[in-house]
Amino acid sequence: MALLLAVVMYVWLVLPSLHAASAPTADNYAHEKDPNFWYDLAEKELQATLRAKQQGVAKNVIMFLGDGMGVSTVTGGRIWAGQRLGLYGEEHLLSWDKFPFVGLSKTYNVDRQTTDSAASGTAFLCGIKTRQGMLGLNAHAMRGNCSKADGNEVECILNWALTAGKSVGLVSTARITHATPAAAYAKTPERNWETDRDIPESEKKCKDVAYQLIMQNPRIQVLLGGGRSFFLPEGVADPDPDPSFAIDDASRTDGLNLVEEWKKEKRNNGFTHSYVYNRDGFDRVNPDETDYLLGLFNQEHMQYEAERNKTKEPPIADMAAKAIRILRRNPNGYFLLVEGGRIDHANHKNHATKAFAEVEAMDRAVQVAKELTSDRDTLIVVTADHSHVLGIAGYASRGNPITGLSVVDGEIEIERTDDNKPYTTIVYGNGPGWTADPRRNLTKVDTTVVAYTMDAAVPMSSETHGGEDVAIYATGPQSFLFTGTHEQNYIPFVMAYASCIGPYAKEKLACAKYEIKEKTRVAFNDPDAASLARRIGSACSSNIVLPSVEILVVPIAVTLVLPSVEVFMAPAAEVWTINLKTLAACGQSKRSEICRSPFVVSLNLPQKLSPSLR
Ligand SMILES: *[C@@H]1O[C@H](CO)[C@@H](O)[C@H](O)[C@H]1NC(C)=O
Ligand SMILES: *[C@@H]1O[C@H](CO)[C@@H](O)[C@H](O)[C@H]1NC(C)=O
Ligand SMILES: *[C@@H]1O[C@H](CO)[C@@H](O)[C@H](O)[C@H]1NC(C)=O
Ligand SMILES: [Zn+2]
Repeated sequence: MALLLAVVMYVWLVLPSLHAASAPTADNYAHEKDPNFWYDLAEKELQATLRAKQQGVAKNVIMFLGDGMGVSTVTGGRIWAGQRLGLYGEEHLLSWDKFPFVGLSKTYNVDRQTTDSAASGTAFLCGIKTRQGMLGLNAHAMRGNCSKADGNEVECILNWALTAGKSVGLVSTARITHATPAAAYAKTPERNWETDRDIPESEKKCKDVAYQLIMQNPRIQVLLGGGRSFFLPEGVADPDPDPSFAIDDASRTDGLNLVEEWKKEKRNNGFTHSYVYNRDGFDRVNPDETDYLLGLFNQEHMQYEAERNKTKEPPIADMAAKAIRILRRNPNGYFLLVEGGRIDHANHKNHATKAFAEVEAMDRAVQVAKELTSDRDTLIVVTADHSHVLGIAGYASRGNPITGLSVVDGEIEIERTDDNKPYTTIVYGNGPGWTADPRRNLTKVDTTVVAYTMDAAVPMSSETHGGEDVAIYATGPQSFLFTGTHEQNYIPFVMAYASCIGPYAKEKLACAKYEIKEKTRVAFNDPDAASLARRIGSACSSNIVLPSVEILVVPIAVTLVLPSVEVFMAPAAEVWTINLKTLAACGQSKRSEICRSPFVVSLNLPQKLSPSLR
């Protein structure tokens, strides 16, 4: 414990503070005394929610996963980011705080109350809950048991998207073989089998995660993250070795150079491709001329944002942007997973400031994704795999540094504590920040420095995950479906429904395209359009398409553009193009097959006919 304390003291004494300057004053906040300020703010939020586009089909889905980004970590990160902008901070909004829909995700898994990232990733990417530590396998399998894995593999959203002809990409600030990204592609009973070196002799029949990524998942177009050492065999020199990294514990023993294997496969198939291992190489990649991109920026996890060597590693926002620019060249759209992987690791060390800096970096990535896409065709989901035992404690004054000591009206709060010592606003339920009895005296300690270890109630070398619900923030087509409290495995089903892939691919279950709001109707005041609509209606009357001529979707106008009727909806803009040629055949053949498929969503302004609304 003495050694631990020494390390803790070293870390906060030596590492610099990340805090921004210019303190806000009460005068800047005089408007908060005016009731009208709060009325206007509420009205603005209400109007924005009413306007939120939530219909239509998601051509693209981008999932941002803050590893370990529980609600308290979001709140802390928001305040910290706001304070870096010179604000009090509490009123600041992260990019996803502006998303119109939020729900809660219940994160427990089949055998644990509090989940790890592997079981959790399998839930939010593959649609099933499973056991702690397993990836892409159902709960018939057992952790660490290779022979029980066979036949228990499940298909995940990455494959649903590929099958639908979409492009896919994975970005993480952790090792690209770490639990969250691995859940998207790997099937293994043990998340720690990232390299073949780590698989025990008796279980060697199972392939390691890095092998599965390169040899069994060749159609992932963008792979960006850390973990380079698991791709190179022993004896092959790393291009930028970190002298403190124990390569002998990580390099491959099977002699495979997976980077070379990756290049070879792309070359053989005639794809333009780039492998990069530092920021310079990454920045030089032209997304318009690159079919495949593999970036491995560290032998281990990528660095914490607060400590990032900016010539060595790109920020998560740049990785997300490059990925989107490559993937969006596919006219069928894409699925992209972006993980802020180190929020979790910082919390495990009770390093709240570092965790908040990671949240701030992911915030910039979400902002960039929002700017590069449109709510009309891109569903963006921001969520976490699990929480952490981070608390925001006390009654500090507005604007008090979130990682500082609790200060009320200019006085360090000691009256409230029974031991008359100051305390930090951020405290953890357990972890390395436990400092024995009596509790350490924090007077004159700068607790806001990057690697400061916050107090914890129970001594543990690594802080644990938290078991309470985490939030799901969503914007874009069908994002309202996340509203409410849901099991974590519900998330990929909504993403699939919104983009008509996987279980909701064409000809299987109805997806976003086929939605009909039954209570709205349109009356056609033009006789030609009315008779046309009646023909369509009778042809498909037994079907989900048009139960009667009059029932359509919140339309404000219909235009006749042979061979289609286009119905224009307001205000959320969902338009149905009804292909008459196909529909004409409805009456004569198997209705359910034909009547469902001709529906295509498109957007068109009304021109020829203007029916009156009911
Ligand atoms: C794996 O499961 C099989 C069948 O239940 C069992 O015989 C074997 O001992 C297990 N192996 C391990 C490593 O637990
Ligand atoms: C950043 O990384 C580069 C490449 O590894 C290295 O040459 C440089 O010394 C590093 N800078 C710092 C400040 O560590
Ligand atoms: C904590 O330390 C300060 C000086 O650094 C001292 O004035 C104060 O009495 C100490 N409090 C306790 C309870 O020991
Ligand atoms: Zn963790």
